[in-house]
Amino acid sequence: MVDHREDIEGIDAAILMHPKVWEASGHVEGFTDPMVDCKVCKGRFREDQLSETPCPKKPSQKVGQFSDCDLTEPRQFNLMFKTFMGPLETEAAIVYLRPETAQGIYVNFLNVQQTMRQKVPFGIAQIGKAFRNEITPGNFIFRTREFEQMEMQFFVKPGTDMEWFEKWKELRFQWHIDNGVRKEKLRMHPHGKDELAHYAKAALDIQYQFPFGWQELEGIHNRTDFDLSRHQKYSGKKLEYFDDQSKERYIPYVVETSAGCDRTLLVILTDAFRKNQERTWLQLHPSFAPYQVGIFPLMKKPELMEISDKLYHNLKKHFRITTDEAGSIGKRYRRQDEIGTPYGVTIDYDTITDNTVTVRSRDTMAQERISIDQIITYFQEKIETKT
Ligand code: GAP
Repeated sequence: MVDHREDIEGIDAAILMHPKVWEASGHVEGFTDPMVDCKVCKGRFREDQLSETPCPKKPSQKVGQFSDCDLTEPRQFNLMFKTFMGPLETEAAIVYLRPETAQGIYVNFLNVQQTMRQKVPFGIAQIGKAFRNEITPGNFIFRTREFEQMEMQFFVKPGTDMEWFEKWKELRFQWHIDNGVRKEKLRMHPHGKDELAHYAKAALDIQYQFPFGWQELEGIHNRTDFDLSRHQKYSGKKLEYFDDQSKERYIPYVVETSAGCDRTLLVILTDAFRKNQERTWLQLHPSFAPYQVGIFPLMKKPELMEISDKLYHNLKKHFRITTDEAGSIGKRYRRQDEIGTPYGVTIDYDTITDNTVTVRSRDTMAQERISIDQIITYFQEKIETKT
């Protein structure tokens, strides 16, 4: 978003902000989950997720359905972590660890717009840590208490907001496909009237079909002028935009795209995992593969090692490279398959005479002979065109 577009700026806002920011955003009052305790198993659960949560005493049944369950009345639990600013641990010194990165963008809106001389429509994006005291973290890194968010707020003229909402929803869906995620494992879930947050005019989740069901990966919201109006009110500072062409002054509407970085990683790993009777492999998009090319001298003989070392150092300037000299060539291919290395290069005795190597594809297992002189352009084409 930031490097390839001219209408989006990147920032790195503060994690600890003035507590009024979280009053303005509505988090102090309303960022809560309903929590229940079981007096029998001493488990603590989210009341809105009971129908999906197995009972710790009888996992074949859900919490609350097993005859022994004895649940308390639900209590609202605020998910923000608190700490104190300065030496005194008083009520007045309470500050919060940000539960989302978005508010740091709202409070910096005019600062970024003016210093970067942007005109509406434009966006501000950031990647950063967010903290939530989740009642039920789990499913590997799907839900954690400390996580990385990737959020972007796009500021638009009121009246053009739905048009931008539609644009961003398509762009974001395509982004996940471009990461190599299978289209049939992704879907859009528009929020019905009963699901819409009070500030949202329209919203949808991009969901992925995890092994534990369809779950949210990213949220797209038309947040209207709710956030900027609230920050204007609570800070007493105008957050209006002045359009110097039309001479209009207004509070922009915001279309927000909000994805979890850790959740995106989980999707990429989950989606790449492939297994058949013969082998297990990670079909990662080459740009996410920890190594893009593995180099394998057929045997640990000086005449092969010399070529292999030279090739390793040449390719390392362009790609993420690994090398492996141990075990049969078949075993070495399998090891790389499991960590998702898309290409393997084998140096054998023919290499000495004809300067060619065998290139083997992780996905198709097809092999072809390529001249060492051509190998950098060969991989550049393969990796850039994602084949
Ligand atoms: N500013 C809007 C916002 O924060 P959200 O739906 O609460 O919206 C956005 O969070 C994304 O952040 C989610 O779609 C998810 O990918 C990620 N996320 C939220 N809570 C998380 C948690 N506890 N652990 C990991 N990722 C989380």
